[in-house]
Amino acid sequence: MSVLDIQSILLNIVIVTLLLFLSIYLYFKYSYTYWSRRGIPHIKPKFPLGNNDQISPEATSYNIETLEWYKEFKGRGLKCGGAWSWAKPVLLIIDPDYIKDVLLKDFNYFMDRDMFSNPIHDKKNESLFVVKKDEWRNMRQKLSPVFTSAKMKVIFHTIMECSKPMIEKIEELERKKADIHIKDIVASFNIDIIGRVALGLESNCFADENSKFRQMAKEFVKVDFGRSIRLLMSRICEKTAQRLGINNVPTIMTEFFSSVIENNIEARRKYNIHRIDFLDLMMEVMDSTKDDKNPFTYDNLIANIILFFIAGFDTSTTTVHLALYELSRNPELQEKTRTEIMKVLEKYDGEITIEGLKEMTYLKQVIDETLRLYTPVQTLSRITTQSYTFKDSNITLEKDTTVLIPTMALHRDSDYYPDPERFDPERFNTEKKITRNPYVYLPFGNGPRNCIGMRLGIMQSSIAIIQIIKNFRLSLSPLTDKVTLRHGVFLLQTNEEVYLRVERI
Ligand code: HEM
Repeated sequence: MSVLDIQSILLNIVIVTLLLFLSIYLYFKYSYTYWSRRGIPHIKPKFPLGNNDQISPEATSYNIETLEWYKEFKGRGLKCGGAWSWAKPVLLIIDPDYIKDVLLKDFNYFMDRDMFSNPIHDKKNESLFVVKKDEWRNMRQKLSPVFTSAKMKVIFHTIMECSKPMIEKIEELERKKADIHIKDIVASFNIDIIGRVALGLESNCFADENSKFRQMAKEFVKVDFGRSIRLLMSRICEKTAQRLGINNVPTIMTEFFSSVIENNIEARRKYNIHRIDFLDLMMEVMDSTKDDKNPFTYDNLIANIILFFIAGFDTSTTTVHLALYELSRNPELQEKTRTEIMKVLEKYDGEITIEGLKEMTYLKQVIDETLRLYTPVQTLSRITTQSYTFKDSNITLEKDTTVLIPTMALHRDSDYYPDPERFDPERFNTEKKITRNPYVYLPFGNGPRNCIGMRLGIMQSSIAIIQIIKNFRLSLSPLTDKVTLRHGVFLLQTNEEVYLRVERI
């Protein structure tokens, strides 16, 4: 090949690259006229991030960039406003009445969540969280019986058993006068629970630091270069990412759970074993619907076990470890929580019971306030299933428009929560609660598509806090000061690690 040929090839590559870049640029620029073409107030986007505050390769869905958008729209006295995530126009809702319409009243227009999935190439991750329209309705109806009060009673005992090794581990660390990385401890407890509750398996996170379940939990939050690129693609060009077979959940997790579930089902069928766990309940649903028009398939079962694993450990771990962080910083609130716990336990002969949990109203306030200040799911998302006009307005959304509800921003709005950065469980006493619009407090979402595992999340968080507070006096380690929220992640994470010191009571 001559020098001239090489030069011509290089020139062609440069021209094609420039043309490609120009077309992307023009596409983005045109998209940035979307809200003005509809006469909807908006904030100014910048190429190429739109209004995102950073590239966010770890965010599988929208996160806390919406805090700033909220302030801007609220400052302008708007009920909602347009913004862009990369080139995608999204509408941010500010007004609690509009939020109620989206989540509850006009739910049929907003049934779907804006969350990437790949139904063609990744059927084993088509879980309740991501499926759309009738498929979601069917699946939700089939999975709701998994979370009844009767099932919760059985799960309660499992959680109690899982709390024993947690307390033993903290005792061991106390004897060594160690600074305790509390998130690690609580994560192990929650993984042990979900391993038992979902699959009837002991994950033994406290005995075995290299437990496979623990590794899988780490895998979910680990975002290496390759996964960053894939996640970014899924957010910027969804259709191309789907065609390329990109998936949301790491393949190693899907493979691990598929094989565990397959072996488990085989053994249960062979020896006619029945357990009261999610797997057994889902096997029942699978068998009883196999001849239906919309059966609950084997892939559906795998997808939802993986989802329950992720949802069950991460959100509750965030809640418990940050509640303990706040109680360590605020010794008088810690003492108040402990006094209530001891009083109720005394009434029930020192035992933790489901009835007793209901009577621990201050503990519930502590959890509510933690979920306000450290909301695990920071922004809720919906997509319009058909064209929709907001009441008493000329704001009309086309079908397939993304609508965002900035939960964390609402939770930190001083109009609803004076001095919002302060941890104050009194915000959730009965008198204060009834005077507040319920749509400005949404840690579990709301409406028919709210969190299906809410009661389980609250129960496992309550038991963890009770067990730790009743056994140990907590204080912050000098290794920990103030925590700040990490940008660019879907499920809340802090920039700093929390270390505690404990003293046996
Ligand atoms: C403190 C703990 C938890 C918090 C803060 C939390 C929060 C949330 C939020 C905000 C949503 C979205 C709701 C919406 O879009 O309106 C959600 C959905 C969901 N959560 Fe949770 N969650 C927690 C625990 C759990 C647990 C323990 C499970 C199950 C084991 C679970 C399973 C789910 C599922 C399956 C969905 C999707 C529901 C649907 O689309 O129909 N969550 N959660």
